[in-house]
Amino acid sequence: MISALMPNYNRADLAFERGEGAWLYTVDGRRFLDFGSGIATSSVGHNNPHLVQAITQQAQRVMHVSNLYRVPQAEKLAERLVANSFADSAFFCNSGAEANEGMIKMIRRAQAKSGHPERTRIICFNGAFHGRTLATLSATGNAKYLDGFGPRVEGFDHVPLNNMNAVRDAIGAETAGIMIEPVQGESGIHVADPRFMRELRAACDEYGLFLGVDEVQCGMGRTGRLFAYEWSDITPDILSTAKGIAGGFPMGAVLTTETIAKHMTPGSHGTTFGGSPLACAAANAVLDIILAPGFLEGVQARAAQLDAGFDRLIATYPNVFTAHRGLGLLIGLKCRPDVALVQNAATGEGMLCVTAGDNVLRLLPPLTVTEADCTAALSMLGRAAARVQAHLAATNAETVA
Ligand SMILES: Cc1ncc(COP(=O)(O)O)c(C=O)c1O
Repeated sequence: MISALMPNYNRADLAFERGEGAWLYTVDGRRFLDFGSGIATSSVGHNNPHLVQAITQQAQRVMHVSNLYRVPQAEKLAERLVANSFADSAFFCNSGAEANEGMIKMIRRAQAKSGHPERTRIICFNGAFHGRTLATLSATGNAKYLDGFGPRVEGFDHVPLNNMNAVRDAIGAETAGIMIEPVQGESGIHVADPRFMRELRAACDEYGLFLGVDEVQCGMGRTGRLFAYEWSDITPDILSTAKGIAGGFPMGAVLTTETIAKHMTPGSHGTTFGGSPLACAAANAVLDIILAPGFLEGVQARAAQLDAGFDRLIATYPNVFTAHRGLGLLIGLKCRPDVALVQNAATGEGMLCVTAGDNVLRLLPPLTVTEADCTAALSMLGRAAARVQAHLAATNAETVA
């Protein structure tokens, strides 16, 4: 099929016309259990009545006014995010990459404006994913994504995750800060050790660096806390988030302390669509749900249910699954055969999953996923694993890991 769409995505031949909770329905009437959530984005499920109503009502009033004027919905959202985090203020934008661009700029500017213009470099981690703009690609550092796009943006140094000696060796006179995903998503669900996070905090304090956390994927309730940094009992200096923040409406945010924010004077940074009444109405509706008493405990309960199920799956199908890891509902199932085989088998059973690096099947259900949905997911994964096992036996295929 020749499409007028640019060929930069590898799309499955599935087209959805509607969704309900954790379920998606194709134009030809099939239904799928959505354990990908549009890559951790449909955080409160499909067709969530509270979110749909908030967007509808706001669209009927006013969608966009620009940042030339006050936006009460943005003020309210910022106040709520500040009240529920380490931060003193918020900047709103439209995507994860844009939030990370903002974070990088803010770290550099705060250093420059507080007497250290030489401090421009940021320490990042092998396996990181920070986005597809030129600077965030350079922060990502993955040669595959940089191929053909010319020189890298200068100023990013990469070291192994969870290796404090490497971090300390990389700190120099030009280092401005450290940028880390508390849970690496794209590279295969690698969790930063809480002790490592605390040591990073200590090193930043010792050398006058800013600690930036990229919570684009792991933030906004995904790990069972509002933000993943909370699991390691540290406070960052700056945080980026996006994806699930507005439940599928495009939005990103940077949260930071007054120490950094005071340098972002009028005109220093901006974006046309950022923090529009419509986006902020959506994000406020998502926050109503995520901050409701007991909601995050519910996310943790679903995660525990799935974890127990994965232990059983690994024991039953050791030729297919070898380990599971993650935090909350940001889950990686390490596969023995090619993960694409397992993903296809799951799709065949009616379940959508995403892949990640390190031959990992990535499971990111909506945070509103029910106990029955999780039971169904475990059955489907079991049947998918049985299929893969039978296929491997039939073809005597080589295993990957
Ligand atoms: C940790 C992390 N940072 C940044 C991004 C980039 O976000 P976006 O695709 O919204 O630009 C992603 C996207 O997958 C991500 O997982």
